[in-house]
Amino acid sequence: MATFETVLITGANGQLGRLVISALQRRAPHLHIVGLVRDAGKALDLAQQGVELRVADYNDLVALTSAMMGVDKLLLISSSEVGQRTAQHRNVVEAAVTAGVKLIAYTSLLHADTSPMALAREHRETEALIRISGLPFTLLRNGWYSENYAQSVPAALEHGIVLGAAGNGQLSLAARRDYAEAAAMVMAGEIAQHAGKVYELAGDEAYTLADFAAEITRQANHPVRYQNLPEADYRAALIDVGLPEGFAEMLAESDARAAEGSLYESGKTLSRLIGRPTTPLSETVNQVLAS
Ligand SMILES: NC(=O)c1ccc[n+]([C@@H]2O[C@H](COP(=O)([O-])OP(=O)(O)OC[C@H]3O[C@@H](n4cnc5c(N)ncnc54)[C@H](OP(=O)(O)O)[C@@H]3O)[C@@H](O)[C@H]2O)c1
Repeated sequence: MATFETVLITGANGQLGRLVISALQRRAPHLHIVGLVRDAGKALDLAQQGVELRVADYNDLVALTSAMMGVDKLLLISSSEVGQRTAQHRNVVEAAVTAGVKLIAYTSLLHADTSPMALAREHRETEALIRISGLPFTLLRNGWYSENYAQSVPAALEHGIVLGAAGNGQLSLAARRDYAEAAAMVMAGEIAQHAGKVYELAGDEAYTLADFAAEITRQANHPVRYQNLPEADYRAALIDVGLPEGFAEMLAESDARAAEGSLYESGKTLSRLIGRPTTPLSETVNQVLAS
């Protein structure tokens, strides 16, 4: 096993980035962990744990290039700025090439190459940039986080309804920390073991949104039912409750594609990679109810 390798995690202040860092600290204490952040002031706790902070915005190629110096392995956590991501990720890849990074892993989207989801486009474009960069790469094609739905548990309890447009679509959900551990496994592993691999990562179990409503009902002992809406109606309902139009559109479109099976995956690659079953939806719902 290589010692004193330097791994850089982008989005280190984000939810996934923080979970990757804590998984790496547990699994691979020999690694030198660098966290790329926009605001070091929000990451003082990471610095106190020995994480080296480097500051750069994905829009700033010069800062990114300097942040990438001496980095052996890079985990590019996809930007949250939908619509700007291809240009931002291009900067990160270019900086990695200049710095001579030895492996780039990228958090893509489940079945990004064939997915009809609108969100897939920027992931496909980024995957193409990574492939033509010539750098050894690993694609972590992440399915949906259970937390995307679990965060709506309080509203579901208040109204007795889960709203969505995913019909009877089977969603292979896993917890954010499951995907984080998979990324950590890749960053901690031998480059030769993961270079060139495309991992389709998703939960062991698949659920419909009706299953989700039934799980809330069971655990909270309070009736909650799933109400399926046409995509346009769901989009309008999300705008009604105050979501920005673009975000509402993205959520409704993703749900409608999920109804057609876009978020289903049966390969169980995620649980094989992390060496344990993925977190069941019931556990994530339970955590929200307990908090
Ligand atoms: N699979 C899923 O279900 C799912 C769900 C939601 C999102 N995602 C994708 O997965 C990524 C990670 O998820 P998450 O839950 O960790 O999201 P998150 O908590 O929103 O974290 C996103 C991270 O991206 C960083 N970032 C955004 N714009 C940036 C820029 N211009 N320059 C540098 N850094 C920038 C943020 O930096 P700051 O900390 O400085 O804001 C933050 O650390 C998201 O960004 C998104 O692409 C996946």
